[in-house]
Amino acid sequence: MKDIKSRIDYLRKEISLHNKLYYDKSAPEISDKEYDDLVKELERLEYDYPLFASADSPVQKVSGSASSSFAQVKHAVPMLSLDNTYSEEEIGKWHERIAKAIGNLQSTNNNETEFTVEPKIDGVGISLTYINGELSIGATRGDGETGEDITENIKTIKDIPQKLKDAKPPFFLELRGEVYIEKSDFEKINEEILENEGQKFANPRNAASGSLRQKDPKITAYRKLKYFAHSYGKVEGKEFKKYSDFIEYCGKCGFQLQQNFKICKTIQEMTDFTNHMTEKRETVPYEIDGLVIKVNSLAFQRELGYTNKSPRWAIAYKFPAKQATTKLNKIRVQVGRTGIITPSAILEPVSLAGVTISHATLHNFEEIERLNVNEGDTVLIERAGDVIPKIVKVVKKESEGFFEIPRSCPSCRSEIVKEKEEVAYRCVNPECPAQFRRHLIHFVSRNAMDIEGLGEAVIDRLLERNKLKILADIYSLTFEDFLELEFFKEKKANNVINAINESKKRPLSKLLFALGIRHAGEKASETIAKRFKNIEAVFEASVDDFIRINEIGDVLAQSLKGFFERSEIRHIIDTLKKAGVRMTQPESQNAGTRFEGKVFVLTGELSGYTREQATEIIKSLGGKISSSVSKKTDYVLAGADPGSKLEKAKKLEVKIINETEFKELLGT
Ligand code: IVH
Repeated sequence: MKDIKSRIDYLRKEISLHNKLYYDKSAPEISDKEYDDLVKELERLEYDYPLFASADSPVQKVSGSASSSFAQVKHAVPMLSLDNTYSEEEIGKWHERIAKAIGNLQSTNNNETEFTVEPKIDGVGISLTYINGELSIGATRGDGETGEDITENIKTIKDIPQKLKDAKPPFFLELRGEVYIEKSDFEKINEEILENEGQKFANPRNAASGSLRQKDPKITAYRKLKYFAHSYGKVEGKEFKKYSDFIEYCGKCGFQLQQNFKICKTIQEMTDFTNHMTEKRETVPYEIDGLVIKVNSLAFQRELGYTNKSPRWAIAYKFPAKQATTKLNKIRVQVGRTGIITPSAILEPVSLAGVTISHATLHNFEEIERLNVNEGDTVLIERAGDVIPKIVKVVKKESEGFFEIPRSCPSCRSEIVKEKEEVAYRCVNPECPAQFRRHLIHFVSRNAMDIEGLGEAVIDRLLERNKLKILADIYSLTFEDFLELEFFKEKKANNVINAINESKKRPLSKLLFALGIRHAGEKASETIAKRFKNIEAVFEASVDDFIRINEIGDVLAQSLKGFFERSEIRHIIDTLKKAGVRMTQPESQNAGTRFEGKVFVLTGELSGYTREQATEIIKSLGGKISSSVSKKTDYVLAGADPGSKLEKAKKLEVKIINETEFKELLGT
C-alpha cells in the first residue's frame, strides 16, 4: 500500500512538472505519449485506490495556469481538455459506448449516429468572445477556468474576423479554436531569429504561443498566426442542430475552415478516414498530432455531457510517435547552469519524418542505466510531436561494458557530487566556466533580461576574448567590443548595444529570475519582486521573511538567503546598479478580469442591448450590477431617457458612461 501511495505521489509530481513545462514554459521535455502514459497510470491508480484520491491531483483538474503578465479573464464556461487514445481498438470501444448510450436516449430505435472527424491542430487553444457580432475578448486557456487577456494580440490575426459576417449575429458567442503557425512560416521565423542571434523556437506550437504572449502586438502581427475554430463555450441568440452546422456557420462568418473535415456514419468510415489522415499527416501545412472525433448532434452532445476534465462526446485519436533506428556514436556530458551534469546522445544522423536527427536526450545517468545503453549500440529513437528525440531502447547491443559516470566535471575537472535524494550529479565549483557560460545564456534569454542579438554564439566569442568575467560585464560591453567580432558590422553592433541598454529597464522580477537563483523560477521571482519591491529589501530579508510568503517553501527560502549572502552577489548587484539596471518592481496594472470588482448601475434605454443583455455582459466579465447609485458605484451606464439615477450619479460624482463609451470599455 505504501508503494502505491508513493507511486501516486511520484506521478502527481511528474505530471505537474510536465504540465508546467508544456503550458507555462512552452518547453516540453517528454513526448505526448509519455505524458499520456503517466496520466493514464495515475488515473487508473486513483480509480483503483480511492483512499488516496485528492481534489488537487493534476488528473482531476485541467492543466496549465494563467501567467501573471497579462490581465486575467474568467471563462464563461470552463475550457476543458480532450480524452485521448493511441489505439484504434479504443476508438472502436468508445464508438460502441456512445452508440449504445445514444440508442438508449433515442425514443425511436434508430441507432444511426453521425460523427465528425477532423485534425487535431497542434496549436494554442484560444477563446474568442463576440458580443453582438463584434470581437470583444481574446483569451488563452490558462488553467481552464481563468486565462490571459490577449485581445490586442488576437486582433492582429487576419484569420480572426473583428466583426462576424452575419447580419443577425448571436448576442453572445464564446468561440473556441486553435491559433497556429504553418510549418513553412515557422521555419522562416526561426531563420530570422537565428540571423538576429536570438533563441530559436523548438516547434510551431511554441512559436505560436510565444508570439501570442508578446507585449507588443506589432510583433504578434508580424508572425503570421492563423486560426481554426473547433468548438464553443457559450452561444446565446443562435441555435445549431449539429456541430457540422456550427462549423459551416463559422465559415460563413469569415473564419477559415479545416480542409480535412469528414462526417462519418459508421465506424468503418471513421477508421478509413483515420488511416487516410495518418498517412497524409505530413502533407497538411500545419502540425497536427491526431484527429478529433465528435458526436455531430448537439442535442446528443448535451445529453452525453462532460466528466470534470473532458467532454464524453469527443475523443482524440493521437498519431503514433515517429520512430527510427540509428547508431549511438557518443554520449556527451554537459554542465548546466546550476552545475547539473547531463548526458546526451550524439547519433549517426538519420531522417525522421523529414527532419534530420543527430542528437537525442538521455535525461540523466539513471536513464542510461535503465536503457543499458552505451556508445556504439544501435538504438530506436522516437520523436513525438515536437520534443527533442529520445532513445526508446537498444535494438542491437554492440558495445561492451557499461557507460561510466564521470567522476570529475568535464569543464573544470572539480569533483562531482550526487546530492541526497537527487537523481542528478552536480559540479559544485562556483567558478566552473561551463556553469558561468550557461548563467550568461540564461541571463540574456527571452524570459529573463531578454537581450536580443546576444545569443549563445556571440557569448562564446566574447568569452574567448575575455570580455565577460562576471555577469555584470554584459553592461560594460562597448560598441567596439562587438565590432571586433566576426560577422558584426555597425548596424548589428548598434542593435545589440541598444538591446543591452533596453534590458536595463526590466522589472526586478526579470532580474531576479535572470540571476539564476536555484529553485527560483519565473513565477517565484515575480512573487518575491512583488512582495519586496526593491533589491535592497530582498538582501535584507530573512529566511522567515521569505517563508511567510504563501507560495515560497523552505527549500527556496534557504536558497534565496544563501544566494544573497554571497559577497560576490553583492558585488554583481552593485555593478549592475552602477550600470543603470533597474532594481525595483513597478506596480502591476489591470489585474483581474476586465470588470472584476466593478459595480455598474444601468439607467435609461440602450440601443444595442436590452437591459438583460447588458447585465449578462457585465456579469460575464466579472462586474456586478446594482439597482441603486451609491458611492460604491463605479459606472452608471446611461441610455436614452435616463431616470433619477443619473441625477444621483452626478451628485455623488460617479463616472457616467454612454453606450459608445461602454463599447470602448468592452474593447469593441
Ligand atoms: S474540440 C472540450 N477540436 O486540443 C474541448 N479541440 O487536448 C473540445 N484542439 O483544448 C475541443 N484541435 O485546444 C477540438 N479539432 C479540434 C482540436 C482541438 C486541437 C485542442 C483544444 C483542446 C485540446 C485538448
